Amino acid sequence: MSPSLTLEHLRTSGLESPLAIDTPPEFSWRTAGADPATRIDSATIELNRAAYTADLTEPVWVGHWTPPGIPAALYDGPPLEPRTRYCWRVGLKLGGRDARVWSEPAYFETGLGQDLPRSAQWIGLEVTEPPIEQTRVQYLGSRFSVPAPVVRARAYVTALGWYGLSINDTEVTGNSIAPRFTAFDHRVEYAAYDITDTVIIGDNAVEVRLAEGRYRGRNSAQGIRSVYGTQLAAMAFLEVECADGTVVMLGTDTTWRGGHGPLVTADPQEGVHIDARVIAGGTKPPVPSPRSVVTVFTPQVSIVAAASEPVRSVAEVTPRSIIELDGRIVVDFGQNLVGVTRLIVSGDRGQEITVAHSEVLGADGHPDMDYLDMSGGMLPRIDPIDHYTLSGTPEEVFEPRFTLHGFRYAELAGVAAGQIHRITALVVGADLDYHGEFHSSHAGLEQLHENIRWSMRGNFTDTPTDDPTRERSGWTGDAQVFAPAAVLLADVRLFLEDWLRDVALQQDPHGAVLDRVPRDTISSPESEGLYPGKGAAGWGDAIILVPWTLYQHYGRTAVLNENWDAMVAWVEFCRRRAADNRHPDRTGVAQAHEMFIIDTGFHWGEWLEPGTEPGGEGPSVETFLKNATHPDAEVATAYFAHSAHLLAQIARILDKHTDAKELEELWLNVRDAYRTEFLDSQGLPRVTTQAKLVRPLMFDLLPTHARPLAARRLTEQVRANGTRLSTGFLSTGLLLTCLSDWGHDELAVDLLLQEEHPSWLGQVGTGATTMLETWRGSHNGKANGSQNHYALGAVARWMYEHLAGLRRAAPGWTDVHIRPVFDARLDHVAASTMTPFGRIGSAWQRHGDGWTITVDVPAGIRATLADRELAPGTSTWTLSEAGTASPRD
Ligand code: BGC
Repeated sequence: MSPSLTLEHLRTSGLESPLAIDTPPEFSWRTAGADPATRIDSATIELNRAAYTADLTEPVWVGHWTPPGIPAALYDGPPLEPRTRYCWRVGLKLGGRDARVWSEPAYFETGLGQDLPRSAQWIGLEVTEPPIEQTRVQYLGSRFSVPAPVVRARAYVTALGWYGLSINDTEVTGNSIAPRFTAFDHRVEYAAYDITDTVIIGDNAVEVRLAEGRYRGRNSAQGIRSVYGTQLAAMAFLEVECADGTVVMLGTDTTWRGGHGPLVTADPQEGVHIDARVIAGGTKPPVPSPRSVVTVFTPQVSIVAAASEPVRSVAEVTPRSIIELDGRIVVDFGQNLVGVTRLIVSGDRGQEITVAHSEVLGADGHPDMDYLDMSGGMLPRIDPIDHYTLSGTPEEVFEPRFTLHGFRYAELAGVAAGQIHRITALVVGADLDYHGEFHSSHAGLEQLHENIRWSMRGNFTDTPTDDPTRERSGWTGDAQVFAPAAVLLADVRLFLEDWLRDVALQQDPHGAVLDRVPRDTISSPESEGLYPGKGAAGWGDAIILVPWTLYQHYGRTAVLNENWDAMVAWVEFCRRRAADNRHPDRTGVAQAHEMFIIDTGFHWGEWLEPGTEPGGEGPSVETFLKNATHPDAEVATAYFAHSAHLLAQIARILDKHTDAKELEELWLNVRDAYRTEFLDSQGLPRVTTQAKLVRPLMFDLLPTHARPLAARRLTEQVRANGTRLSTGFLSTGLLLTCLSDWGHDELAVDLLLQEEHPSWLGQVGTGATTMLETWRGSHNGKANGSQNHYALGAVARWMYEHLAGLRRAAPGWTDVHIRPVFDARLDHVAASTMTPFGRIGSAWQRHGDGWTITVDVPAGIRATLADRELAPGTSTWTLSEAGTASPRD
């Protein structure tokens, strides 16, 4: 047996010890500590009911796995019992060894299946405020009695709104945001909680706090309330197993009581109002609210087990500085982040304190909230300010719930510095495993990587958002451009797979994908006039590109299968849009190729090319009108071709060969049409902006002979632009990869190291601690655009794949070529990321005019470095100028 090999990271359906698995689980594992002799022949997976003791019981199911697949096995036995604890373990058979290497057991529990609505009811205080007004946070409660010591207790909870759960005054859910933002018109998640330690023998109190959340609270740049409904509701089911065999069950129903409490209001965007003088109303006598009657109704949504990581507080940041300015207190946390401030303060009963949040300081040294309004007053202004009223007890703790702010600075008013005991920022986001590491001798590149990671953290919250402030919308285009970087930085499989379910659920009957998913507006397409809010090229294509990215990184075809119908519907939508609509500017007899050109509908185009960013030079109303009436047909047709091409490949992967043939034909037709319409007689793009060269090169749209020429044009354009990029939203993440693919690594590094605007390091040079929406992040000395927008951070992909050389050569990393871009301007570059098999890493160092490189390769994959095949484990090599690798002595 390989002495060092260990099995780790056992996950059930991607989660660690989940408590609500309602679909056939997938068992996955990784290995660490392989040595060069390690060869994995096969694996056996044994499932049993907990408590598992391998040598005592026959497993209830045994699964098998053999390489070269990714290390995962799908349960295919008889249906598992609901609300039951299971455990499993995996044993590896290594080449040349008889004994298996067994993992430690992993545990999971099945959830309620479809039982939650049968065991509990939707309840809530009747909301009487009009849909456009805020409603108060509800405190719903009940009591239950437990006769004997508790051996196991679970709570299963969901809400239309955001909920918090307490048992006997102990908070179970803490600062989590639940349920996550899903297509609430179709489905809402429930989560299971282990409450064994909070339930006691005798009388117990359960309290569910219910706030507006994304269901009824403000959403999108328009700050629209009541997008999904006006009535808040919660559903909870508690099951307590006692040592004497008694099982106590309690579901939400009309016997529960409701009221209000110290958390008076809470809005996702606006913040909270906490009045600490108020006693909570749900369970504790005296109930201060007479409104103790509970209403019950049955919304038409399905309740599904949370299938992704919870959203909760993941870190606490202490201030870099606290100063008094004009009678207020300005706190700088030194890092732009997403979460809430936590304040411990002593003061007088009735004293009112406000905590305002912003990502930037104005010229006067106070946090500036003006920049959040980019509509010139057309949209409602929403300032993220928390309001507290003190009860007068010493050291009161204020920690907002059911809201998120994007901020680096907080400004406190109504309080003296001496009254504050402690203030910190709690970072709240999806609790993903951020496994991507990047280090370099170049401090700017390290900071760039940090900024990208912080922007990802701040926007991978309850859905993937564009920014955490102005809009916090699930813009499909943003997720699409960033996904290839996201998979390298963190384990986003479940997060994005789950989001795609909503993309598909909210696709319109004609196949158009919404620009923002989940939907966060109530205006109907018709009332939106020129802007239908769906079907935009590069945005809607997320339904093809994101599953493709996930398949490439994680190697699972399930994501392609699951989204197949939605992907086909999107490509069909594009096909019909091209064939059935002719732009009014086209006159005369239609040419044959026109039926494959998309030149109608609303399209954002390349979007935000330098010089067209918000503030300053636009995008203006004119841009918007142009996007609606004269959209960029080149962008729209290129994405149509690309999506058809990828879908044809997906069809082959899924063994749908008839579909594949049709799609291949479609792809070739669209490509021909693209060439006829947008290329000149040499086969080069007629309009040669950087983006218009990058896109056809990356989407394989140019005739073979024209490709090197187009790539050379691109290099000339970049040089002519002062070695600066001029790509926009869609192509910036592709630019460096495009240059590298065509042999221009050095220019790619030039662009990466460029410090003059527009450039990545130019952004870093502004002192930004996150990625900015625009290259400068400011205009005329004032902040403009979002200060926390991950889209331009898509460049991280090139940093891992090219600069550090971690190049996946087959889906799921079964095959890898380590091929870094060595550059004499950098002494050292190191990156590592997680493959489904385990960690892969590369670290190179410059020595005089040569390089050494240390690589980490997990067992079970095929990896090469230059001309050499790499054995599993860690090894160090010297590389010659000629690109050959030899082991370092
Ligand atoms: C958002 C973007 C989004 C775009 C659509 C912006 O306001 O912040 O990130 O994709 O609109 O072009």
